[in-house]
This record gives sequence, structure tokens and C-alpha cells, in this order.
Amino acid sequence: MDVPKDVTERILKLRKEINYHNYLYYVLDSPEISDEEYDALMHELRDLEERYPETVTPDSPTQRIGAPPSEKFAPVPHSIPMLSLDDAFTDQEVLEFDLRVKRFLRINHDIEYTVEPKMDGLAVELIYEKGMFTMGSTRGDGYTGENITANLRTVRSIPLRLIERKLKAPERLEVRGEVFMRRADFEALNRKRTEQGLAPFANPRNAAAGSLRQLDPGVTAQRPLDIFCYGVGLVSDKKFSTQWEVLNTLRQWGLRVNPLAKTVKGIKAAIDYHKKLEAKRPDLDYEIDGMVIKVNRIALQESLGAKARSPRWAVAYKFEAAQTVTRILDILLSVGRTGAVTPVAVMEPVRVGGVVVSRATLHNEDEIRRKDIRIGDWVIIRRAGDVIPEVIKSLKERRNGSERPFHMPETCPICGTRLVKRPEEAVWRCPNPDCFPRLVKHLTHFAGKTAMDIDGLGHKVAEQLVTAGLVRNLADIYSLKLSDLMSLERFAEKSARNLLQSIEQKKHTTLARFIYALGIRHIGEVTAQLLAERFGSIQRLSEASRRELEQIPGIGPEAAGSIVAFFQEEKNRRMLQRLLDAGISFRETTREKTSPLDGRTLVFTGALSSITRKQAKDIVREKGGRVASTVGKRVDYLVVGENPGSKLEKAKKLGIKILTEREFIELTGMAHNSS
Ligand code: IVH
Repeated sequence: MDVPKDVTERILKLRKEINYHNYLYYVLDSPEISDEEYDALMHELRDLEERYPETVTPDSPTQRIGAPPSEKFAPVPHSIPMLSLDDAFTDQEVLEFDLRVKRFLRINHDIEYTVEPKMDGLAVELIYEKGMFTMGSTRGDGYTGENITANLRTVRSIPLRLIERKLKAPERLEVRGEVFMRRADFEALNRKRTEQGLAPFANPRNAAAGSLRQLDPGVTAQRPLDIFCYGVGLVSDKKFSTQWEVLNTLRQWGLRVNPLAKTVKGIKAAIDYHKKLEAKRPDLDYEIDGMVIKVNRIALQESLGAKARSPRWAVAYKFEAAQTVTRILDILLSVGRTGAVTPVAVMEPVRVGGVVVSRATLHNEDEIRRKDIRIGDWVIIRRAGDVIPEVIKSLKERRNGSERPFHMPETCPICGTRLVKRPEEAVWRCPNPDCFPRLVKHLTHFAGKTAMDIDGLGHKVAEQLVTAGLVRNLADIYSLKLSDLMSLERFAEKSARNLLQSIEQKKHTTLARFIYALGIRHIGEVTAQLLAERFGSIQRLSEASRRELEQIPGIGPEAAGSIVAFFQEEKNRRMLQRLLDAGISFRETTREKTSPLDGRTLVFTGALSSITRKQAKDIVREKGGRVASTVGKRVDYLVVGENPGSKLEKAKKLGIKILTEREFIELTGMAHNSS
């Protein structure tokens, strides 16, 4: 069969690219693409070579396990090659693995597997002679590694002498395991490095790799490394019958084995455990990138054997990527509870760590400068657990010149106050104590039951939205996207969808609710209702003069002044326009349903002139209100007739709204009925 020209070209291109990334990853410890992207390239190349076997050459990256060892350390041949694992990404691929195993072994009952977390660190081999740790090496290209004994001796969890209480150590034992760094240790190390002006490591795996390949073991000793052992190479005078026995025996000898490893019967149980581990993943203090499934019986493993680079008896069932590449579309600012102003990257949405994200924190201005992150850059982002993703680095080689550097503004993006910065801190802060809480309160009020009535947008969510920089203006809630919400803590797809739906549905509201929702000072529900009835449109209300407003019964000079001031302010006019542009629309206000007295408590004092006290009370009750005899905190209105008593003073003190008889009659709607 002839190989099409474009296939040959693609294969050559893939090999070149993979070799380049191998070099960055293995030799320089500084990868530019995520593991997933690398896997995808390898996958494609392997597929093509499988379809066109005549294209395979000995120097293809598929014919080699890793990259050559660095020349800094003495080479160490592995007596049994340290193989790699085939990846699976879906249940289907894992089921196919199980089928292959059964077909190969010609058995059709459930196979027993061990299932083990796949540690995301660095593979090493430890050699024990007569129970003494004599040599440790990296995996290297699988056949030859590097001698890093001195460095490994500094890893506290590697025993220098095996425990032989229950079982004697063999003449020679080759142990395989993964060296890694715990997340908290990694973060502490990076903080220290940043303080010292050193470049931080991109992830715990790189930190572990960098630490192990130090020429000075004194440096390695300062790095908090750990190990989990998962297998053996050559073992003299001992035969294991199962992988499970291997793990337990290693444990008995005092080697660390991941406590989450276990055995399961049948592939379905293995798949179930994969789901459990994935759910547990964010809570682990170390990184795992999948689960290794291994045929438990060593005799079966031996019958199955290995292909060029990987055994047939095991597969790595990978988790969703925790790290990936995307592009920064813009950099916005979020203002936090403490006034800290944080730059946030708005990115092309990508799937990472199991969810679609479109925002990532950039921490602060110094960090952006240090990492040289620009608007328009391609970047590597990372999402660990359910925290908001962060930008690890920009891919400078992908720039085309259109990228723009970011500049911190001088004033707060929410309230316009001049930002301040303490010399010992990297963050800029808004010094206005009202800024963050006011916006949160404003948003909570806007979404409240008696305002826009948006379900699921209470104080907590309002805080999250403002903190994440998603909302800096009320109108911003109408451009929220699913991925925005899903990047917030405690938001699952369902709750995010529900909130978006409620925001959308409640766009159709009454004018009174909308006026009230705007949060204009001194404008409560009752006044909003009056205004809606009087003006009939937001446009007309916004044009009303102070005099015109003051003439409305029930609207005092304070309320009138506040309305005029609100609509005069340019910022408010712009917000109003954006709200209307977002599609807010009004239905007829139904007076019957929303009497301003509904649910209100009123108290009367003094003599009424146009109606009797009894009539007044009846009307209140008819309109859904309550009449109380004494003034207290729960009272909404005090209606004042002639010669009021001490209730008036008390109501004023408590800030209760005072109505004249005329205003009361306006409020009941009787004035309209009789005119
Ligand atoms: S078994 C022949 N078990 O994954 C079987 N590997 O691609 C070889 N890894 O670099 C590996 N956790 O260092 C095995 N529980 C585990 C593992 C594990 C992490 C690493 C290993 C190797 C890579 C295989």
C-alpha cells in the first residue's frame, strides 16, 4: 500500500514536534505544552504508524520510552527496562483493555485487578542489596537512567535500610516508585523562591524533578520530597504471586506504598473506583493524574507480556486534564472584600479539571510583570481542585506582535477611588471601606425577592460574583455565562444553569419592581409603586423634575432630590441603558395584586378628618395590611392626623416612615377611585 504524501509529511512533523517537547520536558524540565497535548500528539503519531507500519523508523519517538539521560549524572542501566503505560481516557477504552486481556488469556470470567493512584511525579528505581539502599536512579529512557543516589538518600521516606522484622530482605531488590512533592510544600517552596527573586516551578512535578536533579545533594535535602513505591524490577530469591503481594511486601520492608491502592474483581469495579478517586482528587495533598489498573496475578502478567514500550497487563486510566493551554482575551479587575484589587484573565473557554473555565486569577501586577503575561497571549492554565484556575505561564514563542501589556489603573474599577499600595505588599487596594460591601449589597438588593426576584442570587453568591470580578456593575449579571458561574466555588452545572435561567426569566418584570431594584436612596417599595403608577415608564421618571416629584403625595423632598440626583449621574444613566439593552421589559402593574399596603403594618395617631379611624383600619386590612396600636421596630408606617400623640416622636426616633392623612389616602388607592 502506498503511503499518501500528506500522511508522510504529517508523521515527520509530529516526530519533530514530539522530539522538541521531549527535550523541553526531560532535559530542561520546562515543558511548554500540557501532558494532555503531548499525549494527543503521541496518540496521533501512533495511530498513523499503526495504519502505515512501513513508515516506522527506529528513531521515531514511538520506538523509545523517554528522552536520553542528561549528562550531569552517571548512567545506570536498568536490569529490567522501566516501561511506560498505555493511556485510556474513557470507560470505553478501559473496557476494551479488559477485553484485550481476556482475549489474549482466553478467559471469560472477571479478572482481578489492582487499582492504584497514578502519582504525578518522577519515576525512580531504588536498589537494595542485603537490605541496604545502595543505588537510586531516574527512569531516563527506560533502559538507562541517571545515578541520583546521593539525592535520593535525602528523601526522608526512602529507608536507607529495609525493615526485616517479618521478612528477610533479598540479596538484591529493585524497587520502583514515584518521587513527588506535596502541594502545600510546593506552594511554600515557590513562595520562598519568589521572595528570593527566583523563578517559581510550574507545578509540583517539575519541582520534584528539578529537586532530584540537583548536582548538590545539599539543595535536594532542603526540598520536601516524598515517595510512593508501586512495583519491583529484579528481585533475587523471592517470587511474588500477585501485585497485591508486591505492594504489601514493600510495605513490610518499610517502603511507602499509597494507602489508596486496592484490589477489585472485574473491570466494572475498577471503573467505579476511578470515579471515586477522581472525586477524592481535589482533597489529596499530592497530585495524581489518573489510576493505574494492573492485572493482579503475576503469572497472568507474564503470559500477557509487554509491547515495545508498555506492558499488556496494565493501563493508565487518566483523569480530566488539570492543566491546559488557552488564550487571554482580556484582563479585568476584581475587587475583594478587603479592597484588594486583583487582575483576572478572561480567557477563551477551555475544559480543564473536568469543567469549562473562562477566567483565571493573575494574583497581582508584579506577578503579571514577572511572568510577562499580555492580553492576547497563549498561556498554560491550571485548575487544582475546585479553586479558581491560575495562569502558570505565557507561551512567548506563540506571540505575533498583537499582544498588549497590562497596566494597573490608578482608580478603583467599582467606585473610582484612588488605589493605594503598601510598600511591603504586592497588591493594590481600594481604600474606600464602602466599595466592595456597597456593590454586594446593591446587587443583593437588586436581585431580592421584592425587587427583581432572582432565585439563587443571595448575599453569598453576590459576594462571589463581585470577588471574581464577574460583576462590577448591576448590568453585568445579564452577560454572565455558564462557564463564568462554573468557575466559582460551590457551583455545579445545574445550579449555574438554574441561576442563569432565573436571571433571564425575571427580566420581564413590573416597572415598580425595577424602580425599587435600582436601589435609589429613600425609594422603598411603596414609593416605587407610586412612581411607577405616576410616570408609567422609566424614561419619563428619569426626566421628572424635582418640583414635579415633590407634588406627588407620599413623596417628600428627600426622595424627590434623591431621584433627580440618581438620574443626573452619568454612571447611573449608563447602567440604566445597559440594563434596558440587556432586555429588561415591563408588564402592566397589577394594582390588585401589589397594593402598597400588602403585608405592611400601620399605626394611627391623632384625629383623621376625611374618614373615621375605623374606616381607615378596615381599608388597611382589606388591602392586606395590619394595624398595630403601638409603635415598634416592625411598624412600616405611622399615619399622623391632627394633634398626634407621643407615637410621632417615637416613630421619628425609629426612622419609621410618617404619612399624612392625604398621603395615606393616596397609598390606599382611594384617591384614584374617587377622582
Ligand atoms: S506501574 C510497567 N504504577 O506512571 C508498569 N506507574 O507511564 C510501569 N506511575 O513513569 C508503571 N504511579 O512512574 C505504575 N501506581 C503506579 C504509578 C505509576 C505513577 C508512573 C510511573 C511511570 C508512568 C507510567
